[in-house]
Amino acid sequence: MEHFDKQAIDAKVASGLPYQHRWHNRFHLEMPFGLINDPNGLCYANGEYHIFYQWNPFGCEHKNKSWAHVRTRDFVHYSVPELALWPTDEHDKDGCYSGCGFVAEGNVRVFYTCNAKDAQGVRTSSQRFGTLQADGAVKKEEFALQTHPAGYTAHCRDPYLFTRHGRRYMVLGAQADEAEPRGTVLIYEETEAGWQLLGEPAHRLGQFGYMWECPNLLQFGQYDALLFCPQGLPPREFDRQNLYQAGYIAGHLSLDGMAMLQHTKFQELDRGFDFYAPQVLQHEGRHILFGWMGMPDCDADYPTREQGWQYSLTLPRELTLRQGHIYSQPARELKALRIQQQTQTLQAKNTQRLEADLYTGSEVLLNIRLGQAHTVDLTLRYGLEKTVLHYDRHTQVMRISREDMHAGARGLRQFQLYADEMLTLQLFIDRTAVEAFFQHGEEVASFFVFPDKDIVPGLELTADAPLAEVSGQLWALDAFHYGKMG
Ligand code: FRU
Repeated sequence: MEHFDKQAIDAKVASGLPYQHRWHNRFHLEMPFGLINDPNGLCYANGEYHIFYQWNPFGCEHKNKSWAHVRTRDFVHYSVPELALWPTDEHDKDGCYSGCGFVAEGNVRVFYTCNAKDAQGVRTSSQRFGTLQADGAVKKEEFALQTHPAGYTAHCRDPYLFTRHGRRYMVLGAQADEAEPRGTVLIYEETEAGWQLLGEPAHRLGQFGYMWECPNLLQFGQYDALLFCPQGLPPREFDRQNLYQAGYIAGHLSLDGMAMLQHTKFQELDRGFDFYAPQVLQHEGRHILFGWMGMPDCDADYPTREQGWQYSLTLPRELTLRQGHIYSQPARELKALRIQQQTQTLQAKNTQRLEADLYTGSEVLLNIRLGQAHTVDLTLRYGLEKTVLHYDRHTQVMRISREDMHAGARGLRQFQLYADEMLTLQLFIDRTAVEAFFQHGEEVASFFVFPDKDIVPGLELTADAPLAEVSGQLWALDAFHYGKMG
């Protein structure tokens, strides 16, 4: 086990702010050093949102998994990130893996997976609670589960708590120990005698990958959505194009029948290159999602590792469920990032071309009335490099291409998007992290671009025939503020 010196690590983080490197993002959570991944422990206590995330403070490998922690009241001003939870004993010596957060009697509590391997490399996983202390460290407390249940491998992790009818349950990512390992989730109920395994909710997906990670069980009115991250699904023409997926099925969870009833097909939560392991906070009727901008087992695709840091979290997104589909919108608090003095109105009629100079960080809203056009290209131009969002109205396919970038991974992502007359986009363009929301959140795509040169990008909209009308707005966005919070 590495030596985790919270004070020294926190001081090093504080001295790394504000970020200097031109690939560091301004309004995406990240760290000055080390590798971050899954958002963890999301909860709201005493007027503050608590955001934890997986972190290796010692390098850019998937090792030494700890939890970092920030607080915010508004998703714009944040406390300086700190180390909150780290390996200390035989249970979690190989990682404090992902888990959730909740509030009990005013305290922020966390529920996480302890990961340990013995000398032979045999893994054990246990699920443990902890409480955030005034000094910013999590005190480790009781175990809910000491080990994984019979019939499943030790890949049991990422507990997420939910309540139904006043009772508390957890959903846990798991792998059934079968000839062909099978990804699934397990549901447990809290009883006086401890946490009782109710079983796997039945579904109609069949064999669906060899492992499911990071489940969330959400309630939207009458409906339930089971979010999870399956591993082992082959790519298809218009979906499942990343190595691993993050998505959901929506339906009705029957705890008595232990089934997801009348559920939708599996739908992805994001169509970009860099999105995984999302976690959702349910607070005052809102569903606020953070995702990890990154992908397991693809670390070499991200050139910031040469600078000693890697990955970001997405912006907070607010989810709504309509007709079996989850819509994602940027959290409304993010409007406060708009710098009102640096804004441009985008307006044109009967045009095949529109250009605008972006800012160091930008938000772009575009309503495109297609008119005679069949294809539209929205290009982010970085000198000779470019990333292109191409929409074909005939095939109803949106394609994102990083083929013309030099650094980082390249390739295409394409998905079906129905735009009849109006194509609507909302883009958040940070230094390297880009999030694009399509058709008012019907789809969203997160991806990194690592421009070779320190260039503020230009935006170009071109079409194969005159567009009836383009209207929109462009804002410079302020950076997140990190500092002391009351
Ligand atoms: C998902 C994941 C989780 C695990 C964590 C470890 O990215 O593999 O299943 O708890 O990362 O960092």
